[in-house]
Amino acid sequence: MRKILLLTMFMVAVAAIAQTPTGDAQKGKDVYVKFGCYGCHDYSGAGGNGAATGPRLIGLPMTQPAFIAFLRSPSRPQNMPPYTAKVMTDAQGADLYAYIKTFQPPQAAKDIPLLNQ
Ligand code: HEC
Repeated sequence: MRKILLLTMFMVAVAAIAQTPTGDAQKGKDVYVKFGCYGCHDYSGAGGNGAATGPRLIGLPMTQPAFIAFLRSPSRPQNMPPYTAKVMTDAQGADLYAYIKTFQPPQAAKDIPLLNQ
């Protein structure tokens, strides 16, 4: 009985993963630039300063479906424009997500070899 339950849970998990399209980070980089995300979130995802006030995207805790849902209807559309399915496909959203997941926090100066010669 317990084995059947575990097997069922496993199959449900596999099905859930299979439904989530996996993005291509390389393509996502182009999407990030094309749709102007960098204008408010910076090229490195560090977040904006001054007039551009998007939050930091490094280490984004959202799941991919939550991320795409957020793009479709941001919590405060007066701050971040919505990217509807008309202008951005789910596949582009998945690519974007994969790219944002590659963002790394900035290195400390002591860890940059050129600055420590
Ligand atoms: C005009 C400025 C602007 C642009 C362009 C913009 N954003 Fe945002 N973004 C924001 C602001 C401001 C917020 C904070 C939303 C709020 O106020 O609730 C935000 C929030 C987010 C969040 C949620 C972050 C979190 O931790 O909750 C994600 C993810 C995000 N943006 C991704 C993107 C992506 C991807 C693009 C490009 C397709 C983009 N944004 C374009 C301004 C912008």
